[in-house]
Amino acid sequence: MQLVLYDKCKQLETEELKEYMNQKMEVLIRAQNGEERYRESLGWLHVDEWAGEENIREITRHAERVRENGDILVVIGIGGSNQAARAVIEALHGDGHVKILYAGNNISSAYMKNIINQLEGKSVYINVIAKNFETLEPGISFRILRQYLKKRYGAEYGSRIFATGTRESKLHELCRTHGYTFLDFPDNIGGRYSGLCNVGLFPAAVSGIDIGSIAAGARSMEAELHNTYGEENTAFQYAAIRNLLYQKGFRLEMLASFEPRYQYFYGWWTQLFAESEGKEDRGLYPVTAKYSEDLHSIGQFVQEGTPILFETFLDIREQNSAIWLDADEVKDEFDYLNGLSMDEINYSAFCATLKAHSERFPCISLQVEELSEYSFGQLFYFFEFACYLSGTMLGVNPFNQPGVENYKGYMFEALGKYKYRSECNGKN
Ligand code: PA5
Repeated sequence: MQLVLYDKCKQLETEELKEYMNQKMEVLIRAQNGEERYRESLGWLHVDEWAGEENIREITRHAERVRENGDILVVIGIGGSNQAARAVIEALHGDGHVKILYAGNNISSAYMKNIINQLEGKSVYINVIAKNFETLEPGISFRILRQYLKKRYGAEYGSRIFATGTRESKLHELCRTHGYTFLDFPDNIGGRYSGLCNVGLFPAAVSGIDIGSIAAGARSMEAELHNTYGEENTAFQYAAIRNLLYQKGFRLEMLASFEPRYQYFYGWWTQLFAESEGKEDRGLYPVTAKYSEDLHSIGQFVQEGTPILFETFLDIREQNSAIWLDADEVKDEFDYLNGLSMDEINYSAFCATLKAHSERFPCISLQVEELSEYSFGQLFYFFEFACYLSGTMLGVNPFNQPGVENYKGYMFEALGKYKYRSECNGKN
């Protein structure tokens, strides 16, 4: 993947960037070798550990069981437990054989009602995904939906449940007791880094997406980023640029593209960087823009508002649209577009935006050849590795998320969890 920095406003001198990269070279070297201090969080670093050929065969075998007989798979999970799968499925759509629905990502009863309405008359399977299985949203949805399955399928309902959890967790115990199929949530991978294992790949395989190709893309990116040294390494360049811009006072990074199919990928990327870097009163706030639509809303702020953001573009090179603007006898004053394809027009809009925005702040562009399984694998790996480097440069641990525990304490207290626990403990 190629990275280009557009900086017509001259905020980042080439020499300055080189010097910063030289200072931080040790960060890259350590990450390429895999650091002992993060050993328990680096299960994603070598793609083959959890997405090797044997893993892919095994996931495909499980997915086939759903595909043979299922109409709908409800993926129950939140945060890192559903974002990667959703990013790929909603962009590429699989083959339409099994529809994928998402639950366990909110506590809205109206949302749940709508999910249940869609299940009527269909053959339904569930994939509940939770690393520690204490998270409220998936816990609630799993209870409601497994009761639904029990009512519809009786004693056989357990064969319709796939649970992705860690070994010896509560979820694992439930699988053993009730006959649900257990899939490993690797102990050495945190939620937001889990796209390239059972967590992200099983739902994608059920939807008919070629998960072997996702893994192949990730593997190629792993090879590139582990075998490219020094300032030539694109993930290192990206991490260094964003850290230097942070030091210069920029506070937001906006990931943008002119391809709306990246909508759920944005959710994955936002979580990756927000949870990995936003701690100890530090970090860039990750935001996203869906162009060209958002040019007509936030575009004004981006061009002339408070100068706190820089932009990273996903520059999609694919031009295969079959839609052209044909000449028309109705004189609508759009004849200057006659004969152009929508892709050409979209690309011109991208180039113009890049030009205008980079006159005001630095813009990074990452070239993506096409929107495919392979490129999703590349992007997942690229950003995970870059986030690891970037968090380390920033001086934070990119693999924990201590801040999300605070509100949970208050919420569990309000819902009586601790009281219930101590009563239970008293009885047992
Ligand atoms: O990245 C993370 O570790 C988190 O965002 C988790 O994915 C999220 O909180 C869901 O956790 P769990 O799978 O344990 O329910």
